Amino acid sequence: MMTIRRATIDDLVLITEIYNEAIHETVATFDTTPKTAEEQKIWFNNHGSKNPIMVVEHDGCVVGWAALSAWSDRCAYADTAEVSLYIQEEYRGKGIGRRLLAAIIQEGEKTGLHTVIARIAEGNEISVHLHESVGFEKIGVMREVGRKFGKLLDVYLMQKIYTNPTSSK
Ligand SMILES: CC(C)(COP(=O)(O)OP(=O)(O)OC[C@H]1O[C@@H](n2cnc3c(N)ncnc32)[C@H](O)[C@@H]1OP(=O)(O)O)[C@@H](O)C(=O)NCCC(=O)NCCS
Repeated sequence: MMTIRRATIDDLVLITEIYNEAIHETVATFDTTPKTAEEQKIWFNNHGSKNPIMVVEHDGCVVGWAALSAWSDRCAYADTAEVSLYIQEEYRGKGIGRRLLAAIIQEGEKTGLHTVIARIAEGNEISVHLHESVGFEKIGVMREVGRKFGKLLDVYLMQKIYTNPTSSK
């Protein structure tokens, strides 16, 4: 059975395992060295009520996580978040990422965020496709800003703005 729910500190070991695998195997993150338990605890605790972390559980085991992290610590950015989404390798391609992304985007609307940014490395067409399917649009490209596995990489910027009737421009 599949459950999507808010993460707790007890999920951090599996969240970290999934993330460290992605650091090692993919260009999805530009981190290049594994995260320690201590670093991850700080990361987890930096997520306040407006910035959810969610996990997807399969038969009682966390197989993916997503977060809407603060985009910046400068206060005027408080309603802007950046999305992260990672599914454990053997569970990819089964529709889990799509469900988790939809769930966290919905959660961000509930917590009062105004907009969510995604930074997606070139070549990650699956991620671009998923983000488009929940309402993100491409807003730009940062050329050759990363180098991983010996290759220079562009990063696509995507954005979703919630159509919140209480927000004004
Ligand atoms: C990206 C990731 C989160 C997607 O999760 P997932 O569970 O594998 O994805 P899903 O099975 O829910 O959906 C995959 C979608 O991509 C589509 N897809 C598969 N290959 C594709 C390709 N080459 N180009 C475009 N779309 C593709 C599938 O058809 C499906 O779309 P659909 O539901 O409209 O048919 C997951 O693969 C992952 O963790 N990758 C490593 C980390 C990562 O890249 N994170 C994103 C960082 S921005």
